[in-house]
Amino acid sequence: MHMWEVGLQSWVVLCIGFPCSQQLCKAMAEDHPQTMVTCTAPVNIAVVKYWGKRDEQLILPINSSLSVTLHQDQLKTTTTAAISRDFTEDRLWLNGKEEDIGHPRLQSCLREIRRLARKRRGGSQSRDTAPLSLTYKVHVASENNFPTAAGLASSAAGYACLVYTLAKLYGIEGDLSEVARMGSGSACRSMFGGFVQWVMGEDADGKDSVAQQVAQETHWPELRILILVVSAEKKPMGSTAGMQTSVKTSFLLKHRAQAVVPERMAQMIRHIQQRDFEAFGELTMKESNQFHATCLDTFPPIFYLNDISKQVVALVHRFNTHCGKTKVAYTFDAGPNAVLFMLEETVGKFVEVVKRSFPPENNGGQFLKGLPVEAATPSEELLSAVVRDPSPGAVRYLLLTKPGPGPALMENADCHLLGADGLLRSSSS
Ligand code: DP6
Repeated sequence: MHMWEVGLQSWVVLCIGFPCSQQLCKAMAEDHPQTMVTCTAPVNIAVVKYWGKRDEQLILPINSSLSVTLHQDQLKTTTTAAISRDFTEDRLWLNGKEEDIGHPRLQSCLREIRRLARKRRGGSQSRDTAPLSLTYKVHVASENNFPTAAGLASSAAGYACLVYTLAKLYGIEGDLSEVARMGSGSACRSMFGGFVQWVMGEDADGKDSVAQQVAQETHWPELRILILVVSAEKKPMGSTAGMQTSVKTSFLLKHRAQAVVPERMAQMIRHIQQRDFEAFGELTMKESNQFHATCLDTFPPIFYLNDISKQVVALVHRFNTHCGKTKVAYTFDAGPNAVLFMLEETVGKFVEVVKRSFPPENNGGQFLKGLPVEAATPSEELLSAVVRDPSPGAVRYLLLTKPGPGPALMENADCHLLGADGLLRSSSS
């Protein structure tokens, strides 16, 4: 079991690097038992979209969906969880600020994890587990390595990380995507790396509504993901509220869930398995467009794409037309940011096209983040065919990433966001 069982003093030194450290820690734990675990989890971007629930409490979807897990070097959530008999209440810190832990979805995840922990122990009171009583309160601190305000799906990574970390803390093994799903639907797909499907399932209790890996993160090494963080005036309507209205009012959404998605799931899996970029890209764009069409079919309609998003759509199509095939594919979630898929060979050229179409306002200093981009010189012919009416400052920055692995346990105690006293470490606030 990967756990750090610690006494309140000297816990780092005692638990790492000594052959008999476990016994030593348990001995110390007699007085002040505390266990602390830190894990990280990734963001995912759907290429077959989830939109609509058939059960609001359990978060069961009306259709299956499929996503690509993004690399944690660029986008990740880190979460530390600790239990101790000294804690008097459950507490939560998000991005350095204490928050109310009473949110129903947070409570569902906590309750479910504690239930699984109780089941695993089967009521046994062995000395191994007795000090870490399930009645002890838990402290949780979580932070993103990207600005939450940027509108990049943070709830998926956040809930996946919470559930994964709590599971490590309580020593629960096996598939936990069902628990992450109770926090946020899309979070279940962040429990795996690479290419992941969320099988909608049929059971009323949601036991078969789980995420499964379709292919590992190493399956398609040339695949790159370029995120265009656009300038938006206001925060769009959240997914939870948006999809509720769509389920109630959109006939198109119902038709999509029943008659379109099942076939598209099979097609998308095939395109990924065959690493067929043209087919993958075309279906990704059609999926995004149909999702936004269901938003327009919702009454009153919901608009997530803004003028800049639409300019990006047009730019991608001009680029592909000029190239004579699908080289770049866009997808948009419940916000105006564009997520673009392309192969490594296309990145340099396309980034130049983006820079000319949306000239950076701050002299380009921090315009390009994430993986390094190899310099490329696009031909005059390409630029004049593709770049139209540049919009300076419309894109705030670009972030280049690739498919990445699922959640991971941090072995290094320096990663803890909570101090030995179980409170937020000052450096992370
Ligand atoms: C457009 O998972 O955020 O990103 O289950 O209510 O928490 P809740 O919604 P959420 O919805 C994500 C919707 C989407 C498409 C997708 O990720 O599949």
